[in-house]
Amino acid sequence: MLVTSALPYANGDIHLGHLVEYIQTDVWVRYQKLCGHEVHYVCADDTHGTPVMLRAEALGITPETLIESVWHEHTRDFRDFGIAFDHYYTTHSEENRELAQRIYKALNEAGLIERRSIAQMYDPQREMFLPDRFIRGTCPRCGAPDQYGDSCEVCGATYSPTDLIDPRSVVSGAVPVRRNSEHHFFRLSDQRCVDFLRQWALEEGRLQNEARNKLREWLGHSDGGAEVEAGAGEAGVEAGAGEAGVEAGTGEARLADWDISRDAPYFGFEIPDAPGKYFYVWLDAPIGYYASFLRHARNRNLDFDAFTGPDSSCEQYHFIGKDILYFHTLFWPAMLHFSGFRPPTKVFAHGFLTVDGQKMSKSRGTFINARSYIEQGLNPEWLRYYFAAKLNASMEDLDLNLEDFVARVNADLVGKLVNIAARCSGFLARRNDGCLGASEHSALEGFAGAWCGPQSLGALYEGREYSRAMREVMALCDAVNQYIDQRKPWELARQAERGAELQQVCSTAMRVFAHLMRMLQPVLPGTAARALDLLRVSNRDWASIDPLGDAGMPPGHRIEVFPHLLARVDRKQIDALVEANREQRTGPATPSPPIGIEDFARVDLRLGKILSAEAVQGSSKLLKLAVDLGEAAPRIIFSGIREHVAPERLLGRTTVVVANLAPRKMRFGTSEGMLLTATDVSGEINSMFFLDAEEGARPGMKLS
Ligand code: MSP
Ligand code: ZN
Repeated sequence: MLVTSALPYANGDIHLGHLVEYIQTDVWVRYQKLCGHEVHYVCADDTHGTPVMLRAEALGITPETLIESVWHEHTRDFRDFGIAFDHYYTTHSEENRELAQRIYKALNEAGLIERRSIAQMYDPQREMFLPDRFIRGTCPRCGAPDQYGDSCEVCGATYSPTDLIDPRSVVSGAVPVRRNSEHHFFRLSDQRCVDFLRQWALEEGRLQNEARNKLREWLGHSDGGAEVEAGAGEAGVEAGAGEAGVEAGTGEARLADWDISRDAPYFGFEIPDAPGKYFYVWLDAPIGYYASFLRHARNRNLDFDAFTGPDSSCEQYHFIGKDILYFHTLFWPAMLHFSGFRPPTKVFAHGFLTVDGQKMSKSRGTFINARSYIEQGLNPEWLRYYFAAKLNASMEDLDLNLEDFVARVNADLVGKLVNIAARCSGFLARRNDGCLGASEHSALEGFAGAWCGPQSLGALYEGREYSRAMREVMALCDAVNQYIDQRKPWELARQAERGAELQQVCSTAMRVFAHLMRMLQPVLPGTAARALDLLRVSNRDWASIDPLGDAGMPPGHRIEVFPHLLARVDRKQIDALVEANREQRTGPATPSPPIGIEDFARVDLRLGKILSAEAVQGSSKLLKLAVDLGEAAPRIIFSGIREHVAPERLLGRTTVVVANLAPRKMRFGTSEGMLLTATDVSGEINSMFFLDAEEGARPGMKLS
């Protein structure tokens, strides 16, 4: 099997929302591997496109340098959360260029690529075409100011950026102009594509029901049904995609052709024979699955064609979020099929993560970074368990309820699971030199009625019904704990003549514990491996789970002394995590309430000239600045802007400083002021913008 998770953008950090997907996939892959299947789980960073290009520019580095450092961060985050990719690559690779060109050429030869000129918004100052998200203006429907180029957050209207009133480029602030340019389109409207997709997508068992219904809508019923203008809006397809729908009679699909090219400047792959034209990031992103696998296949001497050829007998599964269904169930299978590859076996879509019932939010601190979770000392296996306990095979959203997280992890993992070993292993260690006796067979038989058994449990993993799987495992834990409650090993231990009985009770419980740990390997790989090591169990395959059997620990088998396997989670740790993720630079999206001039006058704003700027050792966020405020000595200011600007870009600039902020002691020294920058409060534009004084202004001048 070839299995993938969606490729995360190299434009941002991995957050807990992403982890829903990677954990869901990783659990599935680990289960398949335990069953003895040959599985190759590949992924990569999705590196191309305008946001990466502009961010690198703002940082004063090349896009290559930026994506390289992000690759290291992403792979470290995934490793720390136990996501065991067989290969993690980048879309900016030679393999990907090779495959993208090959697929493009094949589609072209099949007559599925068309060139036509379209009008798009162009930033005359920055000399570049603008993606919809980089244009803001007044909504043409409701008049709300400062809305995106493709949709209004106030009234929900979707439109083309050319409809915006008073449009502005987010990049330069210039007024964009309409400009024509030739674009390359993938002719999804071609009857061959529609026919193929109807047959592929609607086949029984290919997609989840909810996804299939969407596809029915997009593809139209052959017997007459809903018509949809698929493309624009739906999956964030950029301008142009929606303009090329084919007119068709009732019941026909109205798939819009797909705009797959972008004009320079762009960070991506140039289209062969079309200088200055680049593949749109979403063209080469899914091909990145194959490129990652190709690299892996070359490293491991696997037969790439046997997996990806049109008649492949291998299976290919894609795990994705529901927001990118359109790309994976229309464009991607069509691209593959018409360029001589096999289409996916199945596409598994999941819902979105909410935190405490709401969309993740930077100002509430619930847009939680994977790295910060680790840095705050939280155990990644807590999160893996919690997500597993919540996940099912549907596309419904899933909620991380922070109160419930604490309760569930403590009750299930610590109170039920680990408690079994905590209650029984010590007696064996102290009394029997760690050696097991026989099991109490009637007790084992009693447990069998408490849960579904290993085969059904396996089917739940296979079917991505993890929450039901975790309920079954916990039901077995409950049964074992009840058994311990009844047999009271601590009382047996006080009666010298009942030593054999004590050993039997503890041996029975520890054998089931070994099976429980085998069952939980997909979800808790680290904890399970540690436990099975301590139990000195070698066979850990799924097939070795037989709770009536001896668990690979026959009488006389010696286990190690058990330390405490998993700590409890403390609500305070969660509060600290949320606090650490709360975005400082937030204000209300709408103007703040009015203040009097006397309030304003309390803030002493001065011009400061930046004399030096350097990174602070041991901090990923801070720059240390020396700023001349026209005083006897320059002020030392620590500013949390390191991720947003290269120090060189600040040198010599005269900008605005809050001069009467109380000095603040930090781990690295005392900060004697605050630098002001402009940021987008919606959090959508990730850059910071610096203010410069006009020529002739002097350090120390007061702003009023
Ligand atoms: N780069 C594209 C995917 C290209 S695949 C050829 C992309 N990247 S992403 O970083 O925005 O998202 C990566 C995956 O994480 C997507 O499947 C997306 O649905 C998922 N998630 C991102 N935020 C999420 C939540 N808040 N909740 C659940 N999944 C989320 O899309
Ligand atoms: Zn509106």
